[in-house]
Amino acid sequence: CGIVGYIGHRDAYPIIMKGLQRLEYRGYDSAGIALYDGTNINLSKTKGKVADLSGKAKGEISLAGRVGIGHTRWATHGVPNDVNSHPHYSNSGNLVIIHNGIIENYDSVRKELTNRGYTFHSDTDTEVLVNLIEEVKKQENVKLGKAVQIALNQVVGAYAIAVFDRSKPDEIVVARLGSPLAIGIGEDEFFIASDASPFIEFTNNAVYLEDGEMAIVRLGKEIRLRKIKNDAITYPNVLELQLNLEEIEKGGYDHFMLKEIYEQPRAIKDTFRGRLLADQGIIRMAGIDQNLERFLNAKRIIIVACGTSWHAGLVAEYIFEDLARIPVEVEYASEFRYRNPVITENDVLIAISQSGETADTLAAIKLAKENGAFVFGVCNVVGSSIARETDAGAYTHAGPEIGVASTKAFTTQITVLTLLALKLAKEKGAFTESRFHELLTEIEGIPQKVERALESNTLIEIISEVYKDSTNFLYLGRGYNFPVALEGALKLKEISYIHAEGYPAAEMKHGPIALIDEQMPVVVIATKKGHYEKVVSNIQEIKSRKGKIIAIVTEGDTQVRELADHVIEVPESSENLSPLLTTIPLQLLSYHIAVMRGCNVDQPRNLAKSVTVE
Ligand code: G6P
Repeated sequence: CGIVGYIGHRDAYPIIMKGLQRLEYRGYDSAGIALYDGTNINLSKTKGKVADLSGKAKGEISLAGRVGIGHTRWATHGVPNDVNSHPHYSNSGNLVIIHNGIIENYDSVRKELTNRGYTFHSDTDTEVLVNLIEEVKKQENVKLGKAVQIALNQVVGAYAIAVFDRSKPDEIVVARLGSPLAIGIGEDEFFIASDASPFIEFTNNAVYLEDGEMAIVRLGKEIRLRKIKNDAITYPNVLELQLNLEEIEKGGYDHFMLKEIYEQPRAIKDTFRGRLLADQGIIRMAGIDQNLERFLNAKRIIIVACGTSWHAGLVAEYIFEDLARIPVEVEYASEFRYRNPVITENDVLIAISQSGETADTLAAIKLAKENGAFVFGVCNVVGSSIARETDAGAYTHAGPEIGVASTKAFTTQITVLTLLALKLAKEKGAFTESRFHELLTEIEGIPQKVERALESNTLIEIISEVYKDSTNFLYLGRGYNFPVALEGALKLKEISYIHAEGYPAAEMKHGPIALIDEQMPVVVIATKKGHYEKVVSNIQEIKSRKGKIIAIVTEGDTQVRELADHVIEVPESSENLSPLLTTIPLQLLSYHIAVMRGCNVDQPRNLAKSVTVE
């Protein structure tokens, strides 16, 4: 979910609505807003998107007010409908709350409150929390800030909340545990949001709450942070933000996803800039340089991640083992954290996360740290929870990724992990200086090759037209391109809702081959270096069962061209770096198919970009 709040001298409505739109990547099944007009709280909410909310709010409530809170939801408790949308009132109507996260013990608290005469209108855990705050406030006869603190000590769960009290209209109380929350500091005004994007045109100064912290954001006062558990006060660390508005707008593209696909040459370059010094034969990465011994002494590397980031982890497994000769295990964070894994002080855990907020990945990190492992983060969002929780790390520098389907985050993650693997390989003396130099130079040339891969866009649009009505797709690849096949299938599923599976090409004959007939498009990654002949045999097997073949090949390929129904070329590269190129046509294929099917590419149904619940 995404939350936004404003208190100050401007009209709150446009700030909150625009902010919610920017946070829609965090969830978009319902939205709501509460505004304080000087006397009353006016609240409007609806199932659907922020655009639906703006239509509804205009006809329903007064939009006046210089204080307000808003919410865009990704449902956890209770189906997405008007009633379950946030904000939620307390029974008296004096308090309103917005909440991102889950209150796990909400059922018992709800029973308790029901016994005391409270009634509930929604199925949400959030409505339980706001009434608990109201009850504490009444019973203990304390102010809102204290009541929020006491209530939060009675609940179990994860949250970022903002609460407003009609009888104390110069303040908003916020708290965080597990879900992000930033406060933008302007002149005589404050902004509250899940990330800084809602307020960057108003202020560059922001404070990020740490887990377990709360704040009373009060007009005319400086921000003080307080521990939810024990009242300890800290002075906030006010950061100067680097974000700019252009980066989070579409810039002439129809969708964020397309913009982000096209940003990859620049994003990859930004990721290795200043780190890769090919002429000097060096890779410089502070997070590794300062912890080199930990890496070199590692008995193994464990990589944890979710979704697309997990696929980047799989690519990294190939490159770490192949080049640096360090054993690697790649795990879904959600499985790793609950399976009582063996972790020792000799392990290095690498956590990969675009958002840096994924709940399961964060929990896996904590578990690894408790067991003495050294934890390294690969994140895109600067200052995110995972970036802060890890012992060291390397940012991907992809810039904000807004489209829910991850694209440039994936290729920049692979870039960082490749640099890391090469650096360790060199330090370990695992391969020759000349090979090292060759690879460094090759990486420098990758942005330009990605540029060339993007030139197939029109061809891919034509191919998409042919297969847009298919109901299934198979994606096959071997070696370094097996994870790319998984990622290609995930992209298609996510945004076009076509069922797709990725498989190692050779595994096809152990199951998926049964599905192949003339209705089945099979995307095969068949680049020159990396088991080419074997993949050609797999293509023959598909062809003899009448499957339709869309092959990703190296420029100038003739052999596969004779067999396949369609070929899409990518520039030649070593196998180690090929995922950075072969991924590109797969992203474009899923994009065009989804657009042709009329799907909402940037905000696919049921998904969210930042999953802060487990
Ligand atoms: C969600 C997003 C995916 C992303 C995954 C992991 O499912 O929709 O695009 O790959 O979370 O997110 P992270 O921010 O940890 O990379």
